[in-house]
Amino acid sequence: MSDILAQYRIPAEPYYRPVADEVTLFEAAYAAKMPLMLKGPTGCGKTRFVEHMAWWLGKPLVTVACNEDMTASDLVGRFLLDASGTRWQDGPLAFAARHGAICYLDEVVEARQDTTVVIHPLTDKRRALPLEKKGEFLRAHPDFHLVISYNPGYQSLMKDLKQSTKQRFGALDFHYPAHAVESEIVADEAKIDVATADKLVAIAERSRNLKGHGLDEGLSTRMLIHAGELIARGVAPLAACRVALVRPITDDPDMRDALDAAVATFF
Ligand SMILES: Nc1ncnc2c1ncn2[C@@H]1O[C@H](COP(=O)(O)OP(=O)(O)OP(=O)(O)O)[C@@H](O)[C@H]1O
Ligand SMILES: [Mg+2]
Repeated sequence: MSDILAQYRIPAEPYYRPVADEVTLFEAAYAAKMPLMLKGPTGCGKTRFVEHMAWWLGKPLVTVACNEDMTASDLVGRFLLDASGTRWQDGPLAFAARHGAICYLDEVVEARQDTTVVIHPLTDKRRALPLEKKGEFLRAHPDFHLVISYNPGYQSLMKDLKQSTKQRFGALDFHYPAHAVESEIVADEAKIDVATADKLVAIAERSRNLKGHGLDEGLSTRMLIHAGELIARGVAPLAACRVALVRPITDDPDMRDALDAAVATFF
């Protein structure tokens, strides 16, 4: 029999360097069937962490990138017309609930609040999803788990989760890791030496101090890995930092000068 979950299984261990007690807490939340919300700035490891945990728990992972055009039917499912008539197709949320996958709703605040409320019955003790159009009351598989992520601070008042949504979740805060840990991650991911990774992290730390003083957000671990990957391919560090760090993050000439100066201090 073909395994319909095959494409959602994670075949090899995704590299994840634990930063605090998030692995143990995720395991406990999974066992307690407590939905989880991962909060933290962009590029700090939330998606990688979920991939790692799905692999570690041996569960398939269904990821949904949320956006404001998303409707409840996009999550739950709809009838499709084909040659033999109409056929029901589960949306990703119903699919994960039915087959016992971990469902990861990425950037959930991007979805409209009237879309987000469809997760409510799945995230309380009912653990069920009414498929009204189909006339089915879908009870979630015991292995089903719901994880959502968002970047706190980016959203306006209009774009936040309702209290009735928030209060159904446990939350894990993600931050950029401590200097030595972040250097290790950047070195491992970009395949560069730790001394070079160390310098990239030092530049990032300077940029993070500029948050709210001309920068909306500091340089993320993801950006440092980009810079490292260019360096690993023989690009000179100054050019690599310009392309991967400074130019993407700001268009402000003064801020670019300040960041270029930080780069020049270390390389
Ligand atoms: N603790 C970690 N262990 C291993 N790799 C990490 C870790 N933290 C960050 N990374 C690396 O940083 C990259 C970016 O992380 P990830 O994509 O998980 O960010 P994110 O928090 O999901 O960001 P966004 O909010 O933009 O989706 C990953 O591809 C991975 O290479
Ligand atoms: Mg992500």
